[in-house]
Amino acid sequence: MSYAMVRSVGLVGVAGHLVEVEADLANGLPAVALSGLPDTALHEARDRVRAAIVNSGQVWPNRRITVNLLPASLPKFGSSFDAAIACAVLAAAGELPLAGLAGAAVIGELGLDGSLRPVRGVLPMVLAAARAEVGSVIVPVANATEAALVPGVMVWGADTLGMLVRAIRGEGPLSPPPAPSPLPTASAAPDLAEVVGQATGRWAMEVAAAGGHHLAMVGPPGAGKTLLAQRLPTILPELDDEAALEVTALHSVAGALPTGAGLVRRPPFQAPHHSASMPALVGGGAGLARPGAISLAHRGVLFLDEAPEYSRRALDALRQPLEEGMVRLRRSAGETTYPARVQLVLAANPCPCARPSGDADCECTALVRRRYLGRLSGPLLDRIDVQLGLEPVSGAALFDAEAVAESSATVGARVAVARAAAVARWSAHGWRSNAEVPGSVLHARRWRPPPAVMAPARRLLDLGELSARGFHRVLRMAWTLCDLAGRSRPDRGDLAAATELRRGERW
Ligand SMILES: Nc1ncnc2c1ncn2[C@@H]1O[C@H](COP(=O)(O)OP(=O)(O)OP(=O)(O)O)[C@@H](O)[C@H]1O
Ligand SMILES: [Mg+2]
Ligand SMILES: [Zn+2]
Repeated sequence: MSYAMVRSVGLVGVAGHLVEVEADLANGLPAVALSGLPDTALHEARDRVRAAIVNSGQVWPNRRITVNLLPASLPKFGSSFDAAIACAVLAAAGELPLAGLAGAAVIGELGLDGSLRPVRGVLPMVLAAARAEVGSVIVPVANATEAALVPGVMVWGADTLGMLVRAIRGEGPLSPPPAPSPLPTASAAPDLAEVVGQATGRWAMEVAAAGGHHLAMVGPPGAGKTLLAQRLPTILPELDDEAALEVTALHSVAGALPTGAGLVRRPPFQAPHHSASMPALVGGGAGLARPGAISLAHRGVLFLDEAPEYSRRALDALRQPLEEGMVRLRRSAGETTYPARVQLVLAANPCPCARPSGDADCECTALVRRRYLGRLSGPLLDRIDVQLGLEPVSGAALFDAEAVAESSATVGARVAVARAAAVARWSAHGWRSNAEVPGSVLHARRWRPPPAVMAPARRLLDLGELSARGFHRVLRMAWTLCDLAGRSRPDRGDLAAATELRRGERW
């Protein structure tokens, strides 16, 4: 036989696509031609595959070899087709009985020594194979646990091309996937119980978690902004199966998944430094684009600490993803999109001089102060429902031996109940949290609270202390407060409390 086809899987963004790797051997001068839109890494595959075959003790066919990757229209990146190319070439040369592969998809990069190396994005690749009803996949051993997270597909691991070839010939075994390693112990995880006093801050976290609201905190150094933000994910509900697969797939494509780990079940937390590059923040890079922090925070929390220190460009780049829930990356091979539905948390000092004592010792001029927080204003701040001013916790509260703060588990249980209420109310309309509901809907007759309930917020609106947009945010948070209280409709108290969460800011 001088022709063979082996299945593999390619990735575009976080979506896998089945790829057919064809090899044809013809008489003529020995040469190798690759076709089917390969990028540079794929051209390098030619040399890697040849060396791997020879160094595995197999025979490289000295003929005219054509390798073609189908569909040609699909952009192909990276080195994950190596193993399939090697199998197709050996099979075309009659060295490998394709029946031994039984329609399996083969995924993996080859080292020159013939080792089978792990690749990024195995989870979404295997998901695609499962959807295409490919019954089994063969992957590098280091990727086998990850591959096996996908239900309904047989997964086999191989260490080397030699092991793979022997198995296909029926001369040796492949490795079953190792079970996922247990999660790290919970005791190391941050917990809301560690935050002493700071009742308003803790309450704002609970409200933000319950309604899915973005949150901004302004306060002097040491007020506990970072402390609180890191604990927001600990009170968010676990990811459901669909979300867990989505999040794990993104981390897999980014190469951020630890070997042998299970599905990501906790909402992620990402805190990119303000000096982070644009690719690190929103994604990019050569070949198969890496998801950035905003996509790694998908279904979790994106924390911008010292938010005014981020460049204008970085803050601007976040606007489109925040609006659409996904990142669009323009690439030479076309647009790549990555999911990026995050809960945004901003923290800022009130001014650049950042005195721990707060405003008392501040040396900044009024203009400098305004400009500093002004960097956040406009489109970004406009989307943030909970805007909180924080003061440092008092010494008395910090040393109050009697005080026992509620744990993340306790608060998280209330959050879960409130979230369920919001889902029950909005899911028929396509929203899953109060934060997603447009202000116009909340203000429309069907949902608008009666005038007596709205009175406190109305008065602020009339006084010009609340903008129309701010008013909608108050309405939105009032729904979250009523969900937390287990009421079916916001009452006067909810509206008043929502107003406080909105006006706690000094900016
Ligand atoms: N309410 C609190 N309960 C317990 N510890 C606290 C509290 N507030 C502050 N701390 C302590 O102070 C430290 C500083 O808090 P944190 O880093 O969150 O402050 P910050 O507001 O982010 O300050 P900065 O503006 O300097 O980043 C924390 O690591 C913690 O040890
Ligand atoms: Mg901080
Ligand atoms: Zn200052």
